Amino acid sequence: MRAALNILLLVLVTACSAERGLGDGGASVHGPGILDPASDNFHGKVAERAAWDVAVCMTCHDQTKTDAAPPCAKCHADGPSGCTSCHKMPPMTGAHLKHAGDGAPASCAKCHPVPTNWTDPGHFAAKAILAFAPIAGPNATFDGTRCQNVACHGATLADGGATNTAPAWNGGPAEATCGTCHGAPPATHVQQGGYACVTCHPAGSPHVDGTLNIGRTTGCDGCHGTAASLAPPVDLSGNTLTTALTVGAHQAHLLVPTKLRGPIACITCHAVPAMITTVGHIDSPAPAEVNAEIGWDRTTATCTASCHGTSRPTWTSTGAAVCGACHGIPPNDASHTPTMQLSDCATCHPGSVDATGYPIITSGPNGPTSEHINGHVDL
Ligand code: HEC
Ligand code: HEC
Ligand code: HEC
Ligand code: HEC
Ligand code: HEC
Ligand code: HEC
Ligand code: HEC
Ligand code: HEC
Ligand code: HEC
Ligand code: HEC
Repeated sequence: MRAALNILLLVLVTACSAERGLGDGGASVHGPGILDPASDNFHGKVAERAAWDVAVCMTCHDQTKTDAAPPCAKCHADGPSGCTSCHKMPPMTGAHLKHAGDGAPASCAKCHPVPTNWTDPGHFAAKAILAFAPIAGPNATFDGTRCQNVACHGATLADGGATNTAPAWNGGPAEATCGTCHGAPPATHVQQGGYACVTCHPAGSPHVDGTLNIGRTTGCDGCHGTAASLAPPVDLSGNTLTTALTVGAHQAHLLVPTKLRGPIACITCHAVPAMITTVGHIDSPAPAEVNAEIGWDRTTATCTASCHGTSRPTWTSTGAAVCGACHGIPPNDASHTPTMQLSDCATCHPGSVDATGYPIITSGPNGPTSEHINGHVDL
């Protein structure tokens, strides 16, 4: 084929040598239509018929030769071997712009073998060869119309909520809207009805990169709390102030800075999950469940637990943990007389308070503990 083309062109050159180099649109050597994309003699089509063997053209168009034919670079800025001479980077076909819009050869590598030079073997295959990168998954294929089993379109997520995990290459934007690759939310997500995706999947985390991003960290503090404490602050929405209902008096209960008793564990108020996916953790709509015996009333932000005696401080208030707030000093009942001082309490409640009237904290098997505010009156 190459030899035949050479001979044909040489005959033309010889026949028209008088007009050589006139720059008359190439009609003399190549015949009419060499610059007309609609013509069968258009040089792009000639090159295609020559199996893209542009080297043939260079026998005359090579500018290092004397009396060379016009340079290809006259019109193709980066030369015939530039990547955009014969097809765009990326081609404007199918979903190319979405997948390789930056035009970098590296972006072609997600789906094609990429030539470093246009002369690389296999480059001019009749149909572009698809060779999927590892991110697409081991079973990814292109059936001529659709991509099948591609991880990028959620095939490996196997989410029953997904509507289209085998997108058609020429189908346009509708092939990949939210809900096509995975449900919005996925069918596994029974907790929806209160929590935005960003509650558990941090905003700005890389998407469709083959890694599922859950939480700001890989630990239990990925969605609430900090490395120092899993409880709010930070709450699930990012709030840090104790005036937020979902932050409230968490740290006051967990740390008990007043030293009125030992710290109160999460399990007093919540079921504590062993894993993120433990039943009872994130599998119900907002808000977080509080153990029934605490008597939590979200509307008034109070609870009916006996820890505060009969007082009902709000979860978001402060100053509810001073002597006298939960019971009188002394209580106003038959067991006490109004004249009793703080220093008297230890006479009858020696395990709970010291001689100055301050609660006694001892170390127990599960950390600091106290007879004060332990659920029963200690004498
Ligand atoms: C035998 C030498 C020879 C070969 C081989 C040859 N050309 Fe040419 N080509 C010329 C000459 C000479 C001209 C200048 C016009 C003329 O003198 O006919 C030209 C003109 C052109 C032009 C028009 C340039 C302009 O500025 O008007 C194009 C485009 C072109 N050739 C493309 C090709 C391509 C593509 C190939 C390979 C498939 C090729 N040519 C092979 C000699 C050749
Ligand atoms: C006088 C300007 C000019 C010269 C010189 C020229 N070309 Fe072209 N070439 C064009 C134009 C215009 C197109 C059509 C571009 C398009 O459709 O986007 C084209 C298209 C092509 C195509 C087809 C691309 C496709 O998408 O099908 C090939 C291949 C090509 N040129 C190779 C060459 C080679 C090799 C040379 C040098 C031997 C050369 N051209 C010289 C103007 C030129
Ligand atoms: C001389 C013309 C020409 C040049 C220059 C060229 N290509 Fe191609 N390229 C083709 C043709 C023809 C095909 C196959 C098109 C088809 O299958 O319809 C192709 C296909 C491809 C494909 C699809 C994978 C494959 O091998 O089938 C990639 C990727 C590609 N080219 C990248 C490049 C890069 C990168 C460069 C620059 C280094 C480049 N091309 C330069 C003509 C060219
Ligand atoms: C997401 C996968 C994907 C990426 C990324 C991709 N392609 Fe393609 N490409 C395809 C598919 C699918 C076809 C159609 C193949 C078919 O019809 O057999 C195709 C076809 C082609 C063709 C043949 C002509 C055409 O337009 O159909 C060329 C050339 C090509 N690609 C070049 C490139 C280049 C260059 C890049 C990088 C800039 C690239 N592709 C990036 C999937 C991709
Ligand atoms: C309450 C926390 C939470 C919320 C809110 C949440 N997700 Fe998830 N998501 C998870 C967890 C945990 C996993 C891992 C599930 C597993 O390992 O079984 C996950 C997994 C996924 C997966 C992988 C596929 C799957 O079914 O496991 C996708 C996709 C996903 N989430 C998308 C979303 C989208 C979209 C939203 C918002 C509409 C959302 N998620 C809201 C916690 C959440
Ligand atoms: C082209 C397919 C596709 C489309 C369309 C898509 N996703 Fe995803 N999404 C995935 C895949 C695959 C994952 C699994 C994790 C990964 O690879 O990043 C994922 C994971 C997620 C996650 C979990 C966090 C993460 O990135 O790991 C969220 C949240 C999410 N997608 C939200 C959305 C939203 C919102 C939309 C619509 C704007 C959307 N997705 C559209 C494929 C898609
Ligand atoms: C992916 C985000 C995320 C991660 C990581 C996470 N949680 Fe949660 N956590 C939540 C959400 C959302 C809630 C509120 C659930 C509800 O409405 O019932 C919650 C609530 C809680 C509660 C309150 C009780 C409840 O179930 O409502 C505790 C206790 C808790 N988490 C402990 C943990 C522990 C321990 C870990 C580590 C094993 C952990 N969390 C990891 C999102 C997360
Ligand atoms: C004194 C009782 C109490 C203790 C102890 C407690 N919590 Fe809570 N927790 C609550 C209350 C009350 C809420 C608010 C529930 C609501 O929104 O209706 C809550 C809400 C939460 C929430 C949801 C926050 C949000 O943004 O919606 C998480 C997560 C949580 N707690 C985790 C913990 C963890 C982890 C611990 C232990 C380190 C803990 N809690 C200890 C009472 C407690
Ligand atoms: C003379 C002994 C005595 C002294 C002194 C005493 N208490 Fe008591 N306290 C009792 C008895 C008896 C009960 C009732 C125990 C029961 O009902 O099981 C009691 C019960 C309580 C209760 C439980 C609630 C209630 O009203 O019954 C509180 C709170 C309490 N005392 C606080 C104090 C404080 C504070 C002081 C020091 C100012 C103090 N007590 C001094 C004997 C005393
Ligand atoms: C947060 C509420 C609260 C505060 C604040 C509080 N108490 Fe108590 N106190 C209780 C409760 C509830 C009891 C009932 C028995 C129990 O649960 O330990 C109690 C019981 C007592 C008792 C009886 C002995 C016992 O432990 O049963 C004494 C004495 C006592 N408190 C002294 C004090 C003193 C002194 C202060 C201030 C330093 C104080 N209390 C602050 C809630 C509180």
